[in-house]
Parts: sequence; C-alpha cells; structure tokens
Amino acid sequence: MNIEKKIIRFEAELNKVQRPGMDKLLEYIRGSDFYRAPASTKYHLAAPGGLLQHSLNVLDALRGLLQWNGIENHWEYHTACKIVDTIPDDSVTIMALLHDICKTHFYGTGTRNQKNERTGKWEKVPFYTIDDRMPLGHGAKSAMIIKQYTTLTSQEMYAIWHHMGFNGDYENDAAVGKSIEMYPAVLALQTADMMASRFMEGEKENDLRFSEPSQATAGGFGEDIGTGEPELEEALPINSGEGAQ
Ligand SMILES: [Fe+2]
Ligand SMILES: [Fe+2]
Repeated sequence: MNIEKKIIRFEAELNKVQRPGMDKLLEYIRGSDFYRAPASTKYHLAAPGGLLQHSLNVLDALRGLLQWNGIENHWEYHTACKIVDTIPDDSVTIMALLHDICKTHFYGTGTRNQKNERTGKWEKVPFYTIDDRMPLGHGAKSAMIIKQYTTLTSQEMYAIWHHMGFNGDYENDAAVGKSIEMYPAVLALQTADMMASRFMEGEKENDLRFSEPSQATAGGFGEDIGTGEPELEEALPINSGEGAQ
C-alpha cells in the first residue's frame, strides 16, 4: 500500500472543498494518526494506512453509486430511475473522506505469541487493539470532530452521524429510519461504506479488483480501465469464426 500516494490524493480531494476551517481540519488530520491508522483491528484493512484507504474507497464507492449531473453541478441519488436526493460535490467528498475521522487516536498495538506453522517456532506477532483516547461514540463523534474546525450542512451531518445504519437497538433504528427518509443521502453513505468494507477491502489491503481506483471516480488519480465495452474481436458472434456455416 503506497501511503504517500494516497495522502496526496486525500489532501487534493479535500483541498477542492471550499469551506472556512477546512485547512485547520487538515492540520488536525496531519497531526493525528489518521494516515497511519488501520481501518479496523482485524476485519478489513487492518494495516497501516487502512483508514486512509477505506476513506478513499468510500469516496469511490459513493461516486460510483451516484449520478453526476453536469448541468446542475451536483450528484443525484436515484431510486427506480427517479431522483430521491441531490448532493453537492463538496458534500460527497466530506461525507466519504471524513465519516470515520472518529477512528483517529482510536487504535493501539500489542504483540502476542503465535506459532509459525512453517518453522514450528513460537514468535511475537503484532496486532491492533482498541485504545480509544476520545471515547465519544462513532458517527456522532466524527461529526463533532469536523464541527470543531468547520461547518457541516444538515445533509452531511445526518449522513455522517448515522453512517453505521441499523443495529437492532430500537431508538437508534428509529432515528436512522427517520433520517433516511429526511435525507436519502444517509442511505447512500451507509451503502458506500458497506460496499467499501464488504466488496473492495480485504483483511490487509484492497481486493485485487480495487487495487487502483478507476478514472471514472478518481479522475487523474485513477487508472484508465477503458470503456468496459468488449474488444471488437470478442464481440463477434461465436459462430462467426473459421468453419462457421
Ligand atoms: Fe464508521
Ligand atoms: Fe467506514
């Protein structure tokens, strides 16, 4: 995982957001462990730079989930081919890149003894622990950290606050359901977060299919993956080759 390259993209994306205090927030991020932290202790991207990669993955997943309207200059969230919400470009960036800022100063490391199956010897291996130095919850904590430096629109606030979605707790689930109805973008961010952790990310690094983002979502930071159309030869009918009648 090339962390330096990802930091450059992360900061370039955030620097496009024109909002007072954004520079101060970036200073906070740089001074924290955000760029080196894992995304989880062991479930997805449990490696240095995992949180950074996860944040970029959610941005790519969210942009891929929405439709860009170049005339109105905003993103559209569609259901059954009808628009259910519109989201400003800055909001997509903020919601995706900062939804898990609560995971700064959150992880620690330890070591445990583990038998090396190849050599048969016991050795000390490092692992991540939870060491929450700012125990203020999750989505709400992310929103609070951001609000200490800059502003959030209501749509951004609700999406970040409730990005963990339903969890079986009656009060939480009632609030999440109501928020989704008020701001459908809440569900879009939840979905992009799930797409990132379930489809794009492995235990230590991104799934091979997502090792590089596509230009369609990452612009100059993405790789050219073509149009998705098959090459002409591949597109020919199966019986059009030699010997076909
Ligand atoms: Fe989260
Ligand atoms: Fe997340």
